[in-house]
Amino acid sequence: MTGEESLDPKAAPRARRQDGAPGRQDWSTWPHYDAAAEGFRGYWYPVTWSSHITGDPRSYMICGEKIVLVRDGGTAYALHDRCPHRGVPLSEGDQQFPGTISCPYHGWTFDLASGRLAAVITDGPDSRICGKVGVRTYPVEERLGMVWVYVPVAAEDPHPIDEQLPEELVGNAFVMGGRIDPRGGNWRFACENGFDEGHAKYLHRTSLWRLFKPMPTWNVTRIVPGGRWIYRVQDEVHWEADFPGVGRWSNKRWWKARPPKEAFNIGNTGKPKRVDPTIEAQEFPGFASLSMPGVLRIAYPNFIHYEFYVPVDADNHRYVGVMVNFTEGWRTFGFYAKYLGAIRWLFHGQFSAQDAWMVDVTDAPPEKLYRPDVSLTAWRNLTEEQYAKKLADSGGTAPNGGAAVTRTRKK
Ligand code: FES
Ligand SMILES: [Fe+2]
Repeated sequence: MTGEESLDPKAAPRARRQDGAPGRQDWSTWPHYDAAAEGFRGYWYPVTWSSHITGDPRSYMICGEKIVLVRDGGTAYALHDRCPHRGVPLSEGDQQFPGTISCPYHGWTFDLASGRLAAVITDGPDSRICGKVGVRTYPVEERLGMVWVYVPVAAEDPHPIDEQLPEELVGNAFVMGGRIDPRGGNWRFACENGFDEGHAKYLHRTSLWRLFKPMPTWNVTRIVPGGRWIYRVQDEVHWEADFPGVGRWSNKRWWKARPPKEAFNIGNTGKPKRVDPTIEAQEFPGFASLSMPGVLRIAYPNFIHYEFYVPVDADNHRYVGVMVNFTEGWRTFGFYAKYLGAIRWLFHGQFSAQDAWMVDVTDAPPEKLYRPDVSLTAWRNLTEEQYAKKLADSGGTAPNGGAAVTRTRKK
């Protein structure tokens, strides 16, 4: 495999180092993506489980912003976690009055819904600063048992969260299990790893989740667009190969199931006997798909696995892994038993920990991409196209051109 140009016709000519070695030395081909070290603003992000948000305020960092979450009267609220008086985190405070949060230091008290300074306990009832200052609030929604916060580009109203969720999760009944883990590494490495065509069959070949099912050796894959998603479509799956001058390589073992004869696009180990009707109705062209702002969907015959990569800061992200089964009634017990007995530990646990390890140690650019990395370049191209549109719609500015994407880190 030699040229990168043939993989990605939309990309600019590759950079060359001064010593003539090929490879991309930076991500200037994808300026919005390059500038999004702390995430793409203008999207909803899952922060934590709904059950974790109570009347006791908790602090989170999303897209480099410190945010305090608190629940009052059943509704979750999100505010910038910084008291404008002297910069103390509001999450260190508590609620002294319904519908408010009070800073622990001097009792500045903010309205949860508007962020307006409603009272200053240590300045008496006629405090003249009331109503003159406030803290930023963030739109909040609750879906999939989680609290989601909208991080704006500028001061725009958010798009409806249902427009951003995977379509099949809006309007269908389902049960789900999931994990939310803080992880090291930039969110873009996590997202690229999730959609990376080349890694799963090699990195995960030793996982317990795949103990009895072989992984292919190599594939021929296409990336096809579909609505706001891109899909990986497998045209060929090769289970063994002779590498000239090196030897034969296969993940087939006597104790593993025999690999299927044909290529398939639901599930990644074999052609399924039966596909769940809700999943079948989606007519996914490929079993792995990806959408903004970093949502991975892996369709198996009877469940769908999602990963949401939530930017924390330039060096950390939150991994949100969710397994969904489109069942109702007594069948949900079967799913919970399978999830808690196996999936949570083997798939969302040990298998996914192999990804976390790689994401934490990835160091790019510079990089030298190879044929299967068309999955990465297609994703980066998608972000460029969609984020340029997002900025145009929300009044933001181009990369490195203003507050919309160039932000100083707040700690
Ligand atoms: S720092 Fe918050 S009230 Fe003084
Ligand atoms: Fe992986």
